[in-house]
Amino acid sequence: MTQETKEIHPDFSGLLPREVKEGRLNQRGHVFWFYGLSGSGKSTLAYALEKKLFAEGYFVQILDGDNVRIGLNSNLGFSDEDRCENIRRISEVAKLFAQSGIVTLVSFITPKIELREQARTIIGSDDFTEIYVEASFETCAERDVKGLYAKAKAGELKQFTGKDSAFEPPEGDSAIIVNTEAKTILECSNSLYDQLSGYIKST
Ligand code: ADX
Repeated sequence: MTQETKEIHPDFSGLLPREVKEGRLNQRGHVFWFYGLSGSGKSTLAYALEKKLFAEGYFVQILDGDNVRIGLNSNLGFSDEDRCENIRRISEVAKLFAQSGIVTLVSFITPKIELREQARTIIGSDDFTEIYVEASFETCAERDVKGLYAKAKAGELKQFTGKDSAFEPPEGDSAIIVNTEAKTILECSNSLYDQLSGYIKST
């Protein structure tokens, strides 16, 4: 704790309780943390799921890598340190949404187990579910929607995830896994919807 933070006195007691907000929204707040290689389909899947959840009456917020990195996190790059700060800030924002009863879909590469653990610790295990969007480096490079794999191959992009910056897949049963090579985005989002509704349905 720095000298400055010692002189800060947070007080949450005056806030409207979370349960009251969840009651109004008729849902429970939760963070679904989509992660995987660039081009694996994280954001596409999160957008498809947002539409489905919204159509079913849920109130949803999305946070994703490229969008957040042009605003809130525009001062961050792709070193290990900056990725850690990126994930820390997103986790704090996602936590605020979940505590307001909002279903929050977060999609960031989040390449290391340690980063996912950091997010889980900040948000709290009860409000946090990991979703690994699986697709091989070769498939993502073939898709290359943003042209980044070609740039990385040509040496024009440094610290590229999966090439010269490591990606660690999940261990054990820490995550729900969806494979976007084996299924279409629609099939993945339908199957996820069935698995996720238990976390967010009003009790
Ligand atoms: S994370 O590692 O810190 O979680 P994040 O999800 O925010 O990454 O940002 C990833 C997005 O930034 C990618 O989808 C891609 O469009 C872009 N990007 C730019 N440079 C890189 C890089 N070196 N490695 C990975 N993604 C990059």
